[in-house]
Amino acid sequence: MALRCVLGIESSCDDTAVAIYESTQGIVAHQHHSQIKTHTPYQGVVPELASRDHIKKTLPLVRAALAQADLVPSDIDGIAYTAGPGLIGALMVGAGFAKSLGYAWGVPTIGVHHMEAHLMAALLESPAPEPPFVALLVSGGHTMLVCVNAIGVYEVLGETRDDAAGEAFDKLAKLMGLGMPGGPLVSALAEVACDRDRLLPFPRPMLHNGLDFSFSGLKTHAAQVYADSAQDDESKAGIAAAFEEAVVETLCVKSCRALEQTGLSDLVVVGGVSANKKLRMQLRECLGVAHVFYPRFEYCTDNGAMVAYAGYCRLKLGERDPDLVIQAKARWPLADRHAD
Ligand code: KG4
Ligand code: ZN
Repeated sequence: MALRCVLGIESSCDDTAVAIYESTQGIVAHQHHSQIKTHTPYQGVVPELASRDHIKKTLPLVRAALAQADLVPSDIDGIAYTAGPGLIGALMVGAGFAKSLGYAWGVPTIGVHHMEAHLMAALLESPAPEPPFVALLVSGGHTMLVCVNAIGVYEVLGETRDDAAGEAFDKLAKLMGLGMPGGPLVSALAEVACDRDRLLPFPRPMLHNGLDFSFSGLKTHAAQVYADSAQDDESKAGIAAAFEEAVVETLCVKSCRALEQTGLSDLVVVGGVSANKKLRMQLRECLGVAHVFYPRFEYCTDNGAMVAYAGYCRLKLGERDPDLVIQAKARWPLADRHAD
């Protein structure tokens, strides 16, 4: 049977998202529900509440996606879901839902890797990057530089030894009482800092060698500066700007180094932090002749489109889950191709 429409379900953390990829038109439906309001009172994602909310929202979003694309269940040829890495309860909801639906509809299912799905989001754009290229995967759970020799053939060049970049943004936002999600809020505050030419001197961890990252010392430094400050709007904005500048410079320097070391000239930046405007601006300045590719803004953070497309590509290669096996992995190295 020809593979035409693939339904994708994302539920690895605090976004429930569903999309449909159609082989000639691309993404024909995209539905998304953010759990930010649920978790904000706790200043962080509460795994049990995340799972319960995915249970409530997945079916209505699947119905809405079918209606948006003017499709019926018999039009769907395969179902993709995020099998990991992520919160195990949240993953189990999406995986159990996708497997049950696949069984009921008589179509194959495929569990996809969340970070591979983020990578595939950039390939939905036109022009799409073509391997080999270097990918900077930068989200709330991951910060890594990967050499993508082909889709599915990944060599990790460097990764964070402690906090992910997005996680560091989130922790700083929590500390300064900004709310969730931290990245966009810290970034918006950084834009109103009075004197961006004379920022506080924040450290750039592990800047001068290698391709690994470390952001937890920077976060601790920011916490100390905040504790010693007036803790008013002006000092918060100054700290946000100095912090963002340090993270962005580190990501830029390491990305350029990865291109130099591999001799490649294309960089693909994906994951929630790739929505950061300062990062995009600075990469443009420091990359010289190299090309940089991003997903559109709505596909930078967690979304169903990336899962539907990653699943479509894998199903097209003839891959599929074994029948009646539910795949969910809280930890799952990107270099391992299969979830089982
Ligand atoms: O990819 P994503 O939605 O979820 C994970 O896979 O983790 O990324 C979420 C992360 C959060 O840490 C959020 O604060 C960060 O991406 N983020 C940003 C921006 N937008 C989202 N960080 C910096 N600047 C942004 N504009
Ligand atoms: Zn993500």
